[in-house]
Amino acid sequence: MSLASTYTLGRSGLRVSRLALGTMTFGTDWGWGADKATARAMFDAYVDAGGNLVDTADLYTNGNSETWLGEFVRERSLRDRMVIVTKYGYSAQPDNPNAGGNGRKNMIRAVEGSLRRLGTDYIDLYLLHSWDQLTPVDEVMRGFDDLVRAGKVRHVGLSNVPAWYASRAQTLAELRGYEPLSALQLEYSLVERAVEHEFIPLGQQLGMGLMAWSPLASGLLSGKYRPSRDGQFGDGRLQTMAGADNPAFAKLTGRNFAIVAELEAVARELGRSMAQVALNWVAHRPGVASVLVGATRPEQLADNLGALDFVIPPALRDRLDAASSMPPGYPYSFFTPGMQAMLAGANPVGDKPAGYQPPIRIEAPAAAVGGAAPAENA
Ligand SMILES: NC(=O)c1ccc[n+]([C@@H]2O[C@H](COP(=O)([O-])OP(=O)(O)OC[C@H]3O[C@@H](n4cnc5c(N)ncnc54)[C@H](OP(=O)(O)O)[C@@H]3O)[C@@H](O)[C@H]2O)c1
Repeated sequence: MSLASTYTLGRSGLRVSRLALGTMTFGTDWGWGADKATARAMFDAYVDAGGNLVDTADLYTNGNSETWLGEFVRERSLRDRMVIVTKYGYSAQPDNPNAGGNGRKNMIRAVEGSLRRLGTDYIDLYLLHSWDQLTPVDEVMRGFDDLVRAGKVRHVGLSNVPAWYASRAQTLAELRGYEPLSALQLEYSLVERAVEHEFIPLGQQLGMGLMAWSPLASGLLSGKYRPSRDGQFGDGRLQTMAGADNPAFAKLTGRNFAIVAELEAVARELGRSMAQVALNWVAHRPGVASVLVGATRPEQLADNLGALDFVIPPALRDRLDAASSMPPGYPYSFFTPGMQAMLAGANPVGDKPAGYQPPIRIEAPAAAVGGAAPAENA
């Protein structure tokens, strides 16, 4: 599939590439990114391959990611073609309580800073980066709507929030006529599938496209980390960030290495790189609008941009699904076919004609990696 083929994002009319370019690696300020020449080469390669969706945040590399991205877009006069996503919420000044969090004062401060660094007068998709556990959702949605009406932002979305929060936000938008949410940006990969039970049906039912972040689990699924290497994994991000207080980097676990082993076997059968197979897998999960591809080197990006050029046959996909499945947890563990029959009788899905919205079905959990699924879920 060419990168130039686009999808509409969520229920919006915004057309985006299935593979987005993540720019968290634009800048070396965090100890594991790319220098400016390399970042420019990766941006050029992505655009030349037909991609139109670029993701950044005010937080990334102390603002350099936004600044460089803005420069690269301007250098090639691409502002109209590109869909620029950025985010707000992380604190810019630890001693100023209103220079961080989700509240209106910080939202407006942050959007002005992003516009300045990006060198543009509008942002295509503006995201709340992470829930601050403090600000009322009404304030966020009204603030977003004000930014859209002011012409600073075209579309809005949420990242790293609970499902109940996103659901309430979207319902408020619908009831009050605010700009609705078009996207949910969430961690999703073969080793992190927690979003499947709440967020996939939420996005599908309420019109929010899922943008998958860290689809290679910060590099784990590229194959460079393997137990046989006895903890000596070179200079990858997970090695550099080992021990950091950030759950996104806590990936070198026995469970995850078992998934890596199955991914390696499947990739070998397909004659594809592990990174391509892992990206292809997530891109074809239900509800996924776009996968955020990250790279520190042009050759990594070139590999990743080929991730949609092949099909994973069902039997191999089943193996990946089984190796990576997560027990659903309550209340989803409760919704078994037997319980459904007790609720709805002999015809548990009703008499809906073909093509009618199917009921949300939870996949039967396969045995969890590293041990059997709990008996009550089997
Ligand atoms: N909303 C959020 O909270 C959030 C959080 C995280 C990321 N994001 C977004 O998602 C984007 C992607 O996230 P991510 O960078 O964590 O994605 P990722 O795909 O999980 O990890 C990318 C890293 O894996 C390694 N890698 C990638 N392709 C490879 C290949 N073909 N061969 C070998 N190694 C390879 C590289 O790291 P090394 O070279 O260091 O090994 C690369 O920087 C970010 O740029 C950002 O835009 C959003």
